[in-house]
Amino acid sequence: MPNRIEIKTAALPLKATGTLVVYVAEDTAPTGGAADVWQATGLDWTRIAAAANFKGKQGQVIDLLAPAGVKADRLLVLGSGKAGQGSSLSAWTDRGGSLAGKLANLKANKVAVLLDEAGMTPEQVAELAAGLRLRHYKFDAYKAKKPDDGADGALAVTLHVDGKPAVDKAIADRQATAEGTLLARDLIHLPPNVLGTLEFAAEAAKLAELGVEIEQLDEKAMRKLGMNALLGVAQGSARPPRLVIMRWNGGKAKEQPIAFIGKGVVFDTGGISLKPGLGMEDMKGDMGGAAAVTGLMHALAARKAKVNAIGVIGLVENMPSGTAYRPGDILTAMSGTTIEIVNTDAEGRLVLADALWYTQDRFKPKFMINLATLTGAIGVALGSDHAGLFSNNDDLSARLLAAGLATGEKLWRLPMGAAYDKQIDSRFADIKNSGGRPAGSITAAQFLARFVNDVPWAHLDIAAVALASPSSETNTAWASGFGVALLDRLVETGLLSNERFA
Ligand code: BES
Ligand code: MN
Ligand code: ZN
Repeated sequence: MPNRIEIKTAALPLKATGTLVVYVAEDTAPTGGAADVWQATGLDWTRIAAAANFKGKQGQVIDLLAPAGVKADRLLVLGSGKAGQGSSLSAWTDRGGSLAGKLANLKANKVAVLLDEAGMTPEQVAELAAGLRLRHYKFDAYKAKKPDDGADGALAVTLHVDGKPAVDKAIADRQATAEGTLLARDLIHLPPNVLGTLEFAAEAAKLAELGVEIEQLDEKAMRKLGMNALLGVAQGSARPPRLVIMRWNGGKAKEQPIAFIGKGVVFDTGGISLKPGLGMEDMKGDMGGAAAVTGLMHALAARKAKVNAIGVIGLVENMPSGTAYRPGDILTAMSGTTIEIVNTDAEGRLVLADALWYTQDRFKPKFMINLATLTGAIGVALGSDHAGLFSNNDDLSARLLAAGLATGEKLWRLPMGAAYDKQIDSRFADIKNSGGRPAGSITAAQFLARFVNDVPWAHLDIAAVALASPSSETNTAWASGFGVALLDRLVETGLLSNERFA
C-alpha cells in the first residue's frame, strides 16, 4: 500500500540499519548519541563539515553512504539550528516535516532517527513525529497510473528516544490530532461527484466507531425547525441537504459543552449568481470548514479528550437550476430574521446562520466557534499566512491567537462594528446577504453575528488557508486541514476548569 507511514519509538542505544538520521546543532560538533555514531565511522568531523559547508543550520545536510563502522546504509547528519531555537512547538512540527521531505527525496523507506538532544521534551518529539506524518501525506487515490518514482511511498520510522513511555503517550495523542488533520484534507480533496452531501454525512457518521454520537437532520426535520436560510441554498441541487450533529462526551456528565460549526458547501457554483468558470473546480473545497470540524471531532475522540464537544456541519450544494433560489428572494431564517438575497453566491453565511442559531439554541454552549471558506476577500486582506478571526469576545480571541502561534495555524483578528453592520441593512427585509465589495470579509462576519446571542463566539474565515495551500514544511498537498490542530490545541490548553469567558 502506498502512502503508508509507521512511526514507533525505541530506547537508546541503537543498532539501526537502513537510513540513520542524527542532528547536530549550530556551530557545534556532534554530541551525545550522535557523537558515538560519528566516532564509530572513524571520519574526521572538522574536515567533512568544512567540505560539506555544514554549520549545523536548519536545512543543512551531510549525507554519507555506506559509512564504515555503522550498520546503516546511509548516515544523514542534519543541522538542528541554534540550541533553543525550537522553543515554539510548530518549529518541531516543521523539523519533522522537513525530515520527511528529505527522506522522500532520497526514497528512504526504513529510517532510524536519533533524538537525544538535551532538554528535548516528549511533546517536542511528538510534534516532530506529527510533522513526519503530515508531510508524508499525499492524495493520489484517483491516479490510475501511479507515478513511477521507484519507491512505493511506504515509510517506517523509528525514533530513538530517552524516556520512551512518556514519549509514546505524547506521540499517541499528537498522532490522533494529525489523523484528524489528514481526514480533513482527504474530505476536501475528494472530487465533488464523489463527495456529495449524503456521502459527507456518511463519512461523518463513521466517527461513531470512535464513540462520537451522531445525529442527522434531513430536509423535513430542518423545514420543521424553520431553517429556511440553509434550505434556500440547498433547493437548487438534486442532492438533499443534511445537518450533522456530532457529540463527543469526554467531560463530566453535566458539563456545559463547547461547540464547533462548519460550512459544508460540497460544491459552490455560485448558484444563479454563477461564478466565472476559471478555477471553479476549487469550489469542491467549499466544505473546508465542515471538514475541519469533522477532523477535530475525530481528533478529540481518538485521543479521548476530557471535554464535552459538539460539532455541527451544514451540508448543502449551491447549484443553479429551475428550483434554485434567486436574487430578490426573501428567506426567513430559523431565528425569525428575514434575509433579502442579493447574491446567491453569498451562500455560506446562510447555511451558518441556521446552524449557529440551532447550536446555541439547543446546546447552550460555553462558547461556539465556526469555520468557513466564507469569502474570497479574506485572501486579499491576509493572503494565506493567516486565517481571519472575528469575535465578540476578547478572551476567546486571545486563546485562539495563542493556539494559532503554537500550532503554526495562525490567525489575525479583524474589526467588527456598527458601521460595518449597516452595510447589510436591507430595503425590503431585516438584512441582505451581501454588503458589496468594501470590507467583504467583515460584512460577512457581521451577517453571522446577527445570528449569535450572548454566547462567546468566534468566526474563522479559512477560505485562503484551507485550499490551494502553498507548500510548507508540513504539507505539499492542495488542502491543508487548517483548523484541526489549532482547535485541538485550544481544547487541550486553552480551557481551564470553572473558566469564564468574560
Ligand atoms: N465559497 C466562496 C468563498 C471562497 C472563495 C472560498 C475562494 C474559497 C476560495 C463564497 O461562497 C463566496 O462565493 N463568497 C463571495 C461573497 C460575495 C458574493 C459577497 C465572494 O467571496 O466573492
Ligand atoms: Mn459562494
Ligand atoms: Zn461558498
